[in-house]
Parts: sequence; structure tokens; C-alpha cells
Amino acid sequence: MNSETSAFKADASGTAPKQSDYLPNLKFSDGNEIPMLGYGLGTAMSKRGNKDALDEKIINDTLTAIKNGYYHLDGAESYGNEAELGAAISRSGIDRSKLFITTKTSCRPGETIETAFSRSLSKLGVDYVDLYLIHSPFWASSPAELQQKWAEMEALKESGRARSIGVSNFLREHLETVLQTARHPPVVNQIEYHPYLQHAGGLLDFHRERGIAVEAYSPLTAVTKAAPGPVDAVYERVAKKYGVTPGEVALRWCLDQGIVAVTTSSNEQRLQEWRQRLPLFKLTPKEVGEIAEAGLGKHFRGFWNNQFKEDDRR
Ligand SMILES: NC(=O)c1ccc[n+]([C@@H]2O[C@H](COP(=O)([O-])OP(=O)(O)OC[C@H]3O[C@@H](n4cnc5c(N)ncnc54)[C@H](OP(=O)(O)O)[C@@H]3O)[C@@H](O)[C@H]2O)c1
Repeated sequence: MNSETSAFKADASGTAPKQSDYLPNLKFSDGNEIPMLGYGLGTAMSKRGNKDALDEKIINDTLTAIKNGYYHLDGAESYGNEAELGAAISRSGIDRSKLFITTKTSCRPGETIETAFSRSLSKLGVDYVDLYLIHSPFWASSPAELQQKWAEMEALKESGRARSIGVSNFLREHLETVLQTARHPPVVNQIEYHPYLQHAGGLLDFHRERGIAVEAYSPLTAVTKAAPGPVDAVYERVAKKYGVTPGEVALRWCLDQGIVAVTTSSNEQRLQEWRQRLPLFKLTPKEVGEIAEAGLGKHFRGFWNNQFKEDDRR
């Protein structure tokens, strides 16, 4: 057992991890653990161009991340690069058991979860994933369809080929639908989360009540795509206090709410700085609250916008 898996565990309750000199794991309701900082292969890393040829840049960027200690790798069939992720995993030489591999199903019409999952496993070149997610609920035309797909996810969990199962981009109503019939509740919901999208209507509290962990994707939005904005001044002040960057404050803001942060970068220096600096500071509850408060002054959603009205903050 290494230091990242030994001590206090954050869990789905939203309790911040204790100050530690390493980036901790979070414990899911099924007992499995996820590293709280993840490296994503979507967005900037998604595959464009010739889909058949392996994209060496994606492989090399992912290898750089693995080499720098990013063992939580967040993939999806829709990113088009599971084969590149698989190649990076195999070239890294890191023992499979040390990696935490996520992939997601798009729930293509007419296709079973088993079919999609087998295809993903074969592209990844592994015989199990640590976490398998339903990428979004928006394909489902009825609650029964969502429940049926979840039952298929549960069969994978029971087979041991998906160690944990969860969802992504689910709203409260979708979670409630699945929970009505679930024998294995989703352990996590991966959602866009940053100060400008805090999910009005109590989504975060609902997760905590039901023991569902949260993974924040696009945690840097307020310093990247949605800048400038009302959190800038707080980020700057807090960053100066701790001698870090606003981006590092943005990531810590998630971690210090007991939320897993899924980010990405093809800049090795940035990857190194995150690994070095994020364990060295921790936001006070007051600072977490100040950032949240300032964030309410703006609304920004970067993904799945076609499913929401412009002012819908759920
Ligand atoms: N489930 C879903 O529907 C869903 C949707 C979106 C994303 N995701 C997952 O979440 C992962 C992360 O998403 P994201 O890329 O939107 O996350 P993000 O962490 O908000 O942004 C990462 C991007 O920000 C850039 N960046 C970092 N610091 C910067 C700075 N100081 N100034 C300017 N740019 C900076 C990085 O570029 P550099 O290369 O220059 O560092 C990188 O492209 C994806 O890869 C994917 O795995 C899931």
C-alpha cells in the first residue's frame, strides 16, 4: 500500500481531504478508491483527423502525464482515442494495477452495453476498467430505457470487468430514475463543475445525501474559457497568499469540497507543477465559500448546451 492509498479518505459526503503531502484518493460507496486528480483524454485530447491511424501526439501526451504520476486516466468511446490511451498504457510499463482507468459509453442506439464495453476493452487492451460511466442521459427517451441500461451496467459490475459503475451529466431526475431500480447505485456522477456552474437546485447536496461522489470536469473553466469574470479577483488573492497560480486554486476549490477534479494538459511543466504544488496548500472553508459566492455572479456552461436553455443553471 503506498502513501496515496493509506491514510484518511475523502468520500461522497463532501468532506474535504485533510492536508497531506500527497494527492489523496476518494473512497466510493462500493469500497473502491479513485485518485482525486484525473487526467482527461477528452476536449483538447479528443481525436480529430484519420480515425484509423494511431495519433502519436495523443499517445505521447498521455505517456508524459503517466510518467509524471497521473495514474487516473479519464477516457470515453466518444473521444475516439481509446486505442491511443491503450497504447500509452502499454508503452508506459506501469503495472496495470497501479492505474485507474475510466471509459464511458455513448449508449449508441440499438447497441447493448455489453457490445460497447467489449469494444472499449479491446481498444484499451485491458481486461477490466476501474470505472465505466454512462456518458450522458440525454439519449434516453423514457425512464424505463435509462433503468434498462443501468441494469446492463450492473451486469458488468457483477462480472468484475468494470470494478465500479457510474454516470455522467445526470441531473437529479435522471439519478432518481436510476436509483428507483438500482441494485448497485452509481458510485459517481461526472459533471461540469466550476464556480460559474454550481448546479442550482441542490444537485450537489443530493449526491451527498445518496452517497454518490462527484467528479468535476472542466474545473479550470473560470481561468480559461469563461475568463474574465467575477471570481478572478478572489482567485488572484488566494493564489498570491499560497504562492500558486489561479488554475491551482481552481483545482483545489474542487478537491477541498471532496470533489474529484478531472483536468488535462499537454504542457508538461503545468502537469509537474500541479503534482508538486496541489498537495502543498489547502483552501480554508471561508475561501471555498468566497469563490463559490463570487461565481454566482456569472453563468457559463461549456458542454451539452443544446440540452439546456441559456439561463438554466441546473
Ligand atoms: N463527461 C463529459 O461530458 C465531459 C465533458 C468535458 C470534459 N470531460 C473530461 O474532463 C477532462 C478535462 O476537461 P477540460 O479540458 O474542459 O478541463 P479543464 O481542466 O477546465 O481545462 C483543461 C485545459 O485548460 C488548459 N489550461 C490549463 N491551464 C491554463 C491556463 N492557465 N491558461 C490557459 N489554458 C490553460 C489546458 O491546456 P494546456 O495543454 O495548454 O495546459 C487544457 O487544454 C476532459 O479531457 C475529459 O476527460 C468530460
